[in-house]
Amino acid sequence: MKLSALFATKPISDYHEEAAGKNLVRALGTPSLIAFGIGGIIGTGIFVLTGLAAAQHAGPAIVISFVIAGIGCMFAGLCYSEFATMVPVAGSAYAYSYATLGEFIAWFVGWNLVLEYMMACSTVAVGWSRYFVKLLDFFHIDFIPRWLSSAPLRAADIGYQVHATGAYLNVPAVAIIAGATWLCYRGIEESTFVNTIIVAIKVTIVIAVIAFGAFYVDPKHWVPFIPKNTGHFGVFGWSGIIQAAGIIFFAYIGFDGVSTVAQESKDPSRGMPIGILGSLAICTVLYILMSGVMTGLVPYPLLNDAAPVAVAIEAHPQLNWLTGWVLVGALLGLTSVIITMIIPQARIWLTMAHDGLLPPMFGAVHRKYRTPHISTLITGVLAALFAGFLPIDILGELVSIGTLIAFIVVCAGVLVLRYTRPDLPRPFRVPAVWFTATMGVFFCAGMAAFLPEATWVRLAVWSAIGIVLYFAYGHRHSRLRAKNERAAAKA
Ligand code: ALA
Repeated sequence: MKLSALFATKPISDYHEEAAGKNLVRALGTPSLIAFGIGGIIGTGIFVLTGLAAAQHAGPAIVISFVIAGIGCMFAGLCYSEFATMVPVAGSAYAYSYATLGEFIAWFVGWNLVLEYMMACSTVAVGWSRYFVKLLDFFHIDFIPRWLSSAPLRAADIGYQVHATGAYLNVPAVAIIAGATWLCYRGIEESTFVNTIIVAIKVTIVIAVIAFGAFYVDPKHWVPFIPKNTGHFGVFGWSGIIQAAGIIFFAYIGFDGVSTVAQESKDPSRGMPIGILGSLAICTVLYILMSGVMTGLVPYPLLNDAAPVAVAIEAHPQLNWLTGWVLVGALLGLTSVIITMIIPQARIWLTMAHDGLLPPMFGAVHRKYRTPHISTLITGVLAALFAGFLPIDILGELVSIGTLIAFIVVCAGVLVLRYTRPDLPRPFRVPAVWFTATMGVFFCAGMAAFLPEATWVRLAVWSAIGIVLYFAYGHRHSRLRAKNERAAAKA
């Protein structure tokens, strides 16, 4: 095995040629792309994690955590935009790394993107199931027994033990993934149409919470704005703010998914930057306002609940009418996250299969629906199995670390390509690229460093499995390697 083959880069012109021959359909205009980004972003992060991060780490300064994570994502979003307009193909960060840092790193990034998209789909479906049961409780409907609404295994909050729960299967989680998979299988237009409607409703509900909640904010709940550190690293004070930024980073994941539909965008040069940066900017503003209102409605320790938005508004009888809407908003919010996670996963696998790194069936495109239907089905089945049977909650932080790694590589890759291929046309250029890309790496690496040690251990296990698969299949079937070897033999 030659080391040079591991780090061989794929010419960008190959991607352009291949993309021209693919039969995915160019159906998405700019509004659909912005809605796609928002669909992936607003979900568990704001509806669940904000309260826990505020109550346990940052207090009212959770607002600063949202600003920090938002700035980090903005740097990454700018780098994604340059790549997505320069290499407008479905493979996103995987394809960008293949073009800049070589095949092995590209595989590693592609393997980590499975954590971001497929595992996120499973974790969000488990959250969806909880909100669904809560909504049924709210309406006093009781038709799903407990043993059919959670996975048979549960992980301990700390450490590595796993316990039996007495349940058999998380039926609502499996059902929502099945429904979303069917939609994604049927067509990109159908899926993004449903996503856009859901996004309109969920954004309206978030704005309603901010607008009506603002009248009942008591500024005394914001004092002290930065609670004093307890003496433990990460428990309030500035270290708490940064730790909280690492946790709520999950809330921002999803904007990068826009880059995976570049090949289905009507005009990627315009649509990609607007879709990526527009959705990110809208959600950053909403998150900052929402977390400010939540911590202004109740003393922050009360937000230590899996449904903190409901807790904040229930504390004010005049706002109680909003509770049902918040449950609906959360449920819809999570539904669109699931849809906008399945779509990118299927497209990344499609691209990897075309490069020979995955078996050819992953690269099949449905004749009528023009979707990567087999990859979509595989994503849905695996995500449903994980969500239905396994203690998937523990994987939430793995989703963040997998995404952060992809962001770091994309930021570094933009810089590399500016020097190795300055000649390439760049419809969107990252402003002050040295500063932006370096800060992107710095912010993302900083947030990753603050994730718990157990997450790093799990990442190491995940990476080891990925490396074995690469040498067992990907490396041996790589089209680029075969092409380079043929060229070398001729020379
Ligand atoms: N950003 C998405 C969420 O918060 C993954 O659910």
